[in-house]
Amino acid sequence: MDKQAILIVEDDPTVGESLRLLLKKRGYSIRLASNGKEALHHFRQGSVDLVITDLVMPKMGGIELLEAVKKLRPETEVIVISAQGTIEKAVQAMKLGAFDFIEKPINARVISLLVERALEKQTLILQNQDLRSQLEDKFHYKNIIGRSKEMVKIFELIRHIAPYDSSVLVFGESGTGKELIANAIHYNSPRVSMPFIKVSCASLSEGIIESELFGHERGAFTGAIASRKGRFEMAHEGTLFLDEVEDIPPGTQIKLLRVLQEGEFERVGGNKTLKVNIRVIAASNRDLQEAVRNGSFREDLYYRLNVVNIRLPALRDRKEDIPFLANFFIEKFTQKYHMKVKGISQRAMKLLMDYEWSGNVRELENTVESIMVIHSPEAIDSQHLPQEIRDFRKRPEVVSFKIGTPLDDVEREMLVQTLRVTKGNKRRAAQLLGINVRTIHRKMEELDEAGFA
Ligand SMILES: Nc1ncnc2c1ncn2[C@@H]1O[C@H](COP(=O)(O)OP(=O)(O)OP(=O)(O)O)[C@@H](O)[C@H]1O
Ligand SMILES: [Mg+2]
Repeated sequence: MDKQAILIVEDDPTVGESLRLLLKKRGYSIRLASNGKEALHHFRQGSVDLVITDLVMPKMGGIELLEAVKKLRPETEVIVISAQGTIEKAVQAMKLGAFDFIEKPINARVISLLVERALEKQTLILQNQDLRSQLEDKFHYKNIIGRSKEMVKIFELIRHIAPYDSSVLVFGESGTGKELIANAIHYNSPRVSMPFIKVSCASLSEGIIESELFGHERGAFTGAIASRKGRFEMAHEGTLFLDEVEDIPPGTQIKLLRVLQEGEFERVGGNKTLKVNIRVIAASNRDLQEAVRNGSFREDLYYRLNVVNIRLPALRDRKEDIPFLANFFIEKFTQKYHMKVKGISQRAMKLLMDYEWSGNVRELENTVESIMVIHSPEAIDSQHLPQEIRDFRKRPEVVSFKIGTPLDDVEREMLVQTLRVTKGNKRRAAQLLGINVRTIHRKMEELDEAGFA
């Protein structure tokens, strides 16, 4: 580590020089100034960790210097030297944020101790700032885990497109990290210091989604007792994340298109046209192209949103990411719960890799967390894994029928068994069976009516 730098400000050369010698011997790097003005000049030039200043000096006194230093770099500590008759000033200095004061004649031991304590405090503050910036790193794509070809490509794409204002459409099954990606784009864009505002379109009923998005004026509808800003206004100059965008009702879709095209909209019940500057990132876990085909999603809006398209692969299609993710989560919860879990056995890891994670990364994360809090194991081994993961490969993926089984029964059994394997995920079951989801729904209804399932 570099030597810590102390700036000594003292108009009496004998006092200044003896302080310089003393502190130099203790291993600090010293700069000397004879008044506040000169000191400020040094201070602006480079790294000063601590200031020790006399109070009464020509040109600029200690109090003025203290104020300037605290304004420029508040974390810098300042020790003031008070002579007889300046105690009152020393007290004032303490109120202005001085670390401490020392009286003349200066005692070598006392000043050494003070300096040590002040610099220690400095180091702590700086370490905290480091920690904070590490936390801010949370959303850097570097902290989105993924070594698979597919994920690495996505990271490159994000790096590439983040600086631009173009809309992004993120597609991926539930729990694949859509929100994480949206965050990463925002936090790596020039809009980083402006708001990132999320709207969960699915959770908003048709009646309130417009007021949520665009805001409303007082009296716009019963219950609108005050006017309110919408998410578009809140996201001004930042990023708006439209989650589950496929659930936006058709009437609202056209208004959304207008904001995307012109940046203009009106609050509900208002007639003033408002203008915003936003970047939109939309996410969907359904195939929006299919929604366009069946008419539930406007084609023009789809193209507006889909300037950049990011498709997050399901975890089952990038099993090589599982070990990295699992270890990442073990580390994460070890810290969160102050545990000492050393890692995971090969056997257990293999089981995690073999499993079909229909809930994707979120399911893997929850599984790791629950193992850790339930068992607090020294290391995770197969016996800690939930039964269904342990038995996954043992479970027959073959369904056999006697010759002569009625086809209706075959179909019913195949449907039920497939849904069991996909843990009720109908979309995945439809994929495996080569039919579309609506057919699954219809068949399940038929089974229901027939008294099965
Ligand atoms: N690549 C990854 N690396 C680390 N953590 C991840 C990764 N992908 C997802 N996660 C974690 O998994 C959880 C789910 O991620 P996220 O909420 O972004 O998914 P989603 O696609 O938006 O899900 P949903 O469709 O259910 O809204 C979060 O806790 C997230 O931090
Ligand atoms: Mg999400």
